[in-house]
Amino acid sequence: MNYQSNHTIQRIRTPEELDDVFYHGFFEVYSDCFSDEPYFQRFSLERVKEDFYAMMSHGVFLCLRESNGRVDAFVAGLPLQNHGVLKDALEFTNHQIDVNVIASYWYHSEIGVPKRLRGKGHARRLWDEVLRLMPSGYIKILARTHKDNNDSLKMHERFGFVCIPGSEHIVVDGDYDNPDHKPEDDTRVFLIRG
Ligand SMILES: CC(C)(COP(=O)(O)OP(=O)(O)OC[C@H]1O[C@@H](n2cnc3c(N)ncnc32)[C@H](O)[C@@H]1OP(=O)(O)O)[C@@H](O)C(=O)NCCC(=O)NCCS
Repeated sequence: MNYQSNHTIQRIRTPEELDDVFYHGFFEVYSDCFSDEPYFQRFSLERVKEDFYAMMSHGVFLCLRESNGRVDAFVAGLPLQNHGVLKDALEFTNHQIDVNVIASYWYHSEIGVPKRLRGKGHARRLWDEVLRLMPSGYIKILARTHKDNNDSLKMHERFGFVCIPGSEHIVVDGDYDNPDHKPEDDTRVFLIRG
């Protein structure tokens, strides 16, 4: 894909930089990415701040920024050991995660591009940068997505992930700050690369 854009990628490393991206529309972009089908999620600002503070501290959190500072897309990941999804990963991946080398698994936790900017290569650019910045020693990368999220499934496939057979499971404690929006069937699947 020919990628042309005026955006720059910024790595977020400090609480001040975190505040700055929230000031420049990060929360709105994040909400836009997960508010529709198949997620219908609603988040609290505090919860999202907390999650990205953890990713910034333990892993890699990147934002794609317009020349005026506006945040237009994001990606974040961290060592699997540092993420709350570890328990589900061990439970639902049918022993395909080798617990003896769990320290070598990275968790590709978040990636989002708002609807108006999709299909232009922004996710690819962010992903390539994550791979470049990921500390050495991470041999496998785990991800999780909704079983019906076609864009995400296709993107992960292009990024070299494969679905882990039999890893479908229903998420019962998703981020639904507004319970009215909780879908009846929030079935996710784990994917692995490497
Ligand atoms: C998934 C998402 C991040 C893709 O962002 P994007 O900027 O449109 O993706 P890109 O244009 O960079 O495409 C990345 C790759 O995936 C492929 N791809 C993306 N969407 C696709 C689709 N619907 N069908 C086929 N391929 C697709 C592209 O062809 C591209 O492959 P290439 O780099 O090898 O050429 C975006 O749709 C999104 O934010 N969705 C909502 C949030 C979400 O589901 N996040 C992932 C789950 S955590």
